[in-house]
Amino acid sequence: MSAGERTAVELPGDARTVTLLRERAFTAMDRAYAPYSNFKVGAALLATDGSVTEGCNVENASYPAGLCAERNAVAAAVARGNRSFELIVVATEAEEPTPPCGICRQVLEEFSPHMLVMSFTREGREARWTMDELLPKAFTPHSLDRR
Ligand code: THU
Repeated sequence: MSAGERTAVELPGDARTVTLLRERAFTAMDRAYAPYSNFKVGAALLATDGSVTEGCNVENASYPAGLCAERNAVAAAVARGNRSFELIVVATEAEEPTPPCGICRQVLEEFSPHMLVMSFTREGREARWTMDELLPKAFTPHSLDRR
């Protein structure tokens, strides 16, 4: 198996960790500022040191200035010294679990190409993906290496 490949989706941490992250993601979702889309998103990011950092989407009257929950969580975690992540849990009010958008996938890939991504709905539906499933053939920091 080459680097970057994974045969199965493994859950980092135990069910309690996932439950905790899920609660933190929904709490962050409730704090989202999304008056334009009315689509609130929360994210809870588990770092390899065990710390958890939340993010929510923050929209703006100038629509393109809006920020996604996942990227806000990554930015907050980096600011507190974490650059290595095991799991991100996304929470929305959608009927089906939603994966991170393409730009957020790229940002997650930058720091932790092997992390697991989970998504939950209020009603308890869940989905999980590896980064390799979400962003195959990614452009990574190594792509910038000069020959
Ligand atoms: N949004 C996120 O926060 N994360 C995603 O992965 C998908 C989209 C936000 C952006 C915008 O505020 C709203 O959801 C609707 O797209």
